[in-house]
Amino acid sequence: MLRIVVCVSGGGTNLQAILDGVETGKITNTEVIAVISNNAKAGALERAKARNIPGIVLSPKKYSDREAYNQAFTEKMKELEPDLVVLAGFLVKIPPQMVSAFSGRIVNIHPSLIPSFCGVGYYGLKVHEKVLERGVKVTGATVHFVNDGMDEGPIIAQKAVCVEEEDTPEILQRRVMEQAEWILLPKAIDDIANDRIRIVGNRVCSVAGGNGK
Ligand code: GAR
Repeated sequence: MLRIVVCVSGGGTNLQAILDGVETGKITNTEVIAVISNNAKAGALERAKARNIPGIVLSPKKYSDREAYNQAFTEKMKELEPDLVVLAGFLVKIPPQMVSAFSGRIVNIHPSLIPSFCGVGYYGLKVHEKVLERGVKVTGATVHFVNDGMDEGPIIAQKAVCVEEEDTPEILQRRVMEQAEWILLPKAIDDIANDRIRIVGNRVCSVAGGNGK
């Protein structure tokens, strides 16, 4: 059984897709053991509560400096002992000590086709604002493993989504979530839980004969 901790900052629709995936059997061999938020007001915490999953708030603002927060966050994660950490709309940079302690065991969902529209300053609605400003016709989402860089780790899966002429950032965000994010992230977790993928250098490869489907 893959024990996962999901990190969130906002509304938590990606968390919901994971919880629903576990409930309906789209994601197998997986248990969500805790949800961590940097924001006490995150709607995602309500979604966790509704499924009796412990919600933990760790806000950088409550610590004397970033290093103290990084230590506390990493210690908490080590205490929880997850097999996989899932960043589902988590808008805080993962501490380097956590990346090394959980190497190859942290995944992130990003709302664009990496390497476009990613890195510092590209998160949440801002990504879709920049996509519309640039006038690209196709965008999408990416699930990737997390390394020390910003949105630079090995890519697990991507899905393209069309940009329409009448789009606002909000409309585009919703389409990217519906057509890409809520499908890609649960599938990636299920693939990891059933040993269907592995990292080879900076690439993610399918494993023939992985356990399960
Ligand atoms: C999602 O679109 C996710 O891809 C994005 O934040 C949103 C969170 O929505 N993540 C990033 O931008 C990370 N760089 P949610 O709270 O409803 O899942």
